[in-house]
Amino acid sequence: MMRRTVFALATGVIAGLGISGVAAQMTVEDDEGRTEVIYEIGMFHPAPGAQLTYDFCAVCHSEMIIVQQGQTREGWDDILVWMVEDMGMAELHEEDRDLILDYLGTYYSPDRPHYPPS
Ligand code: HEC
Repeated sequence: MMRRTVFALATGVIAGLGISGVAAQMTVEDDEGRTEVIYEIGMFHPAPGAQLTYDFCAVCHSEMIIVQQGQTREGWDDILVWMVEDMGMAELHEEDRDLILDYLGTYYSPDRPHYPPS
């Protein structure tokens, strides 16, 4: 996880320098110091985990049906189990799964801090 994050960060810096103005990407950081380079996240709130969630979840359906939900981390965990068992989603690696659950449980919690999407 650390290694991949650092690599992604370096890639973002290099791409940002090389083709600035073309690639709309940025590096985001959360309170725990985790970073992620994001470039295409649709309606998701920009924070670490957004890109990963978009990449894994918006292949089958719009991210809209995700941002409309307000769930606890446990609630999102159940939804991920459901996606895998009944909807044909591939199992996620544990560290990806953890980051996605942290992301969704924080920014798409029952308090719905980002609903309606803005
Ligand atoms: C392999 C395809 C696939 C992937 C990948 C996938 N889903 Fe789904 N998901 C579905 C299908 C099919 C439905 C139900 C039909 C629909 O609304 O399109 C659905 C529905 C949902 C719903 C709506 C539930 C409701 O109450 O209406 C949520 C929330 C959801 N998915 C979350 C996720 C999240 C979060 C991820 C990523 C971790 C994800 N999905 C990845 C196929 C997928």
